[in-house]
Amino acid sequence: MTTIIPGSTSQALAAAVADELGGTLTVPTYRRFSDGETLAAIPAFDDSEAVIVASTATNDAHIELLQLQDAAREAGAETITTVIPYLGYARQDKAFKEGQPISVRAVAKAISTGTDRVLLVEPHEPAVTDFFSVPAEPIGAAGLLAEPLSGLDDPLFVAPDEGAIELATTARDAYGEGTVDYFEKHRDRDTGEVELTPSDAPVEGRDVVVVDDIIATGGTMSGAIAVLDGRGAADIYAVCVHPVLAESALTKLSAAGVERVIGTDTLETAVSDVSVAPAVAAKLTE
Ligand code: R5P
Repeated sequence: MTTIIPGSTSQALAAAVADELGGTLTVPTYRRFSDGETLAAIPAFDDSEAVIVASTATNDAHIELLQLQDAAREAGAETITTVIPYLGYARQDKAFKEGQPISVRAVAKAISTGTDRVLLVEPHEPAVTDFFSVPAEPIGAAGLLAEPLSGLDDPLFVAPDEGAIELATTARDAYGEGTVDYFEKHRDRDTGEVELTPSDAPVEGRDVVVVDDIIATGGTMSGAIAVLDGRGAADIYAVCVHPVLAESALTKLSAAGVERVIGTDTLETAVSDVSVAPAVAAKLTE
C-alpha cells in the first residue's frame, strides 16, 4: 500500500489521487510559529511507499514540501515520490539578466534531496525536469482542459504566445473540432507589461478558447481576450492548467469580456473545474 501525503494547498487533489490509487490518505498538521516559521508534520505510517502531492506556489509551500519529504523519510518510507502539481519558480528557468539566479534550478536541487522521483504536472518548460538530480517527468494536462467545453460554434483555439501553441493544439485535439492560431507576445522584463501582436485569423462570430499554461496576473490572457472581443468574437473562454490568479487577475479577465475561466486543481481555486487526479494516478501506476 501507498501513503498519500498532501501539502496544505493540495488537499483536495491529494484526496482525489488517493481515491484513484486506493492508497491511504494521511492527515498532516500544518502549524505556523509566532516568528513566522512553519512546521508540517505527519502521523506514523507503515507503508514502505509514500507519495507527496504538494504544489509550491509560495515560498512557505516550498519549505513545507521539504519538511513533508523529511518527515516521510523519518517515518520509514523506503521510496518517496514527489508529485508537484504546480511548480513555483518554473518561469525563472534562465538568468534573464546579469546577476539573476536560475531559480527553478535552485529549488529543483533542494527538492531532489528528499525524494526518489519527481512528477511535475504541465511544467512551464518540460526541460526543467533536467534540473532535478533524481528521475523527473512531466505529466501532460492540456487535453483535460477541453472537458468542460461543449457546443462551441466554429471554434478557434488560440495560444496567447508561441510557447502555448502545443497546449492549444492538444486542447483542440481533445475537443475534437476547430482551428488553432497564436499571438506573438513581448513582455517587458522590468515592468511586466505585455504587448500582444495578433494574427489575421478571422474570429468574427466564432467561439474562441484561449489556452495557456498559467494565468498569473491575467495580463497575457486579458490582453488576448480584449483583442478578440474587439474583433467581434462570440463567446471567449480563458482556459489554463495552473490558475495562479494573482492580484486582480479574475477581474481583469471579466473586464476584458471573458465568458468563462476554466482551470485545473493543480491550484485549488474557484475556477478549478477540471481535476488532474486521473492523469496523476495514471502516471503513478504506469
Ligand atoms: C508565460 O510564458 C506563461 O506561459 C504565461 O503566459 C504567463 O505566465 C502568464 O502570466 P500573466 O498572467 O501574469 O500574464
